[in-house]
Amino acid sequence: MIIQGIPSPGSGLRLHLNENTGGCSPRVLEAVRALTADQLAAYPDYRAAVFACARHLGVDPEWVLLTNGLDEGVFLLAVSRLGRDKTPDAEAIVPVPAFEPYFAAIAAVGATAVRVPPLANFGFPAEDVVRSVTSRTALVYLNTPNNPTGQVIARESVRAVVEAAPHALVLVDEAYIEFAGRSFIDELPQHHNAIVGRTFSKAYGLAGMRIGCLVAHPDTLAPIRAVTPVLNLNVVAVTAVQAALEDSSFLPRYAAQVRQSRERLYAACQRLGLEHWESAANFVLVRVGDRVADVISALDARGVHVRDRSRDPHTPGCVRITAGVVAHTDAAVSALEAIFV
Ligand SMILES: Cc1ncc(COP(=O)(O)O)c(C=O)c1O
Repeated sequence: MIIQGIPSPGSGLRLHLNENTGGCSPRVLEAVRALTADQLAAYPDYRAAVFACARHLGVDPEWVLLTNGLDEGVFLLAVSRLGRDKTPDAEAIVPVPAFEPYFAAIAAVGATAVRVPPLANFGFPAEDVVRSVTSRTALVYLNTPNNPTGQVIARESVRAVVEAAPHALVLVDEAYIEFAGRSFIDELPQHHNAIVGRTFSKAYGLAGMRIGCLVAHPDTLAPIRAVTPVLNLNVVAVTAVQAALEDSSFLPRYAAQVRQSRERLYAACQRLGLEHWESAANFVLVRVGDRVADVISALDARGVHVRDRSRDPHTPGCVRITAGVVAHTDAAVSALEAIFV
């Protein structure tokens, strides 16, 4: 039976979707609990949330388009840029390995994905991406830090791609930027063909509420706004994001846990002789080897759910493990040790 969505594992540690494993700020919970029946019955007014996000990101409100998760932003970009372009042979460039919904969005509008493989150790292939730009290129999906590798794209490389494709839109997907790295937002005024994508699912723990945003020059956002459902967000998400941004102590505390968790995962991989890649995000890619399905089942049996990345030709034998609350990471490490020692 095919049912919508991603099924939950039921019990155990959710280290498979890069969520915030510590939950969201208590301020969010308070604000959501305070919603009244009348507020829940009314279509939401987005303005205060747009202003709060704009303030947080250091841009004017008209540079912000709130989306139902960054997933929706990824999709709307494809619809507006590839679908409405009416270019029968429009191409979208995607450096791989990549966040899979990019490919679903490109396919949904009948465009062609041009995959650019990574350099050694998942280095960003800036020159190859630039060389892949053609007159048919309408969209480029960049992701820094990258899911699933955790690697950062150097700012000069982002800039090189943006400048090599002035006729295309370049999404700089910064879903994990809060954990390390510097946002490209401050370069947007010089680069009107670039769009930064952000989400409140990861660092802020709002994945269940679905809220993210696209940030770009208002003229760049205009065609994307035109294909965005007018009421794409619910009142709970709109309320939650404002409360999340008011709690300035939440993010530094969680980011510190993420850093510690990454270190513990690296140390465990070293002890166990597992290849892994140091990550700038809240997850670590680990090569567990040919018996990846058995390892995942054994971890599941111990209540630790990780993401299978082994079907991607660029990450054979690999799993991706969320690095969040340190106690959860310790449990994952114990489970790995029980399996591999
Ligand atoms: C690279 C990347 N972009 C975008 C998203 C979408 O985030 P959301 O739709 O939860 O805001 C994710 C989620 O896993 C991601 O990994």
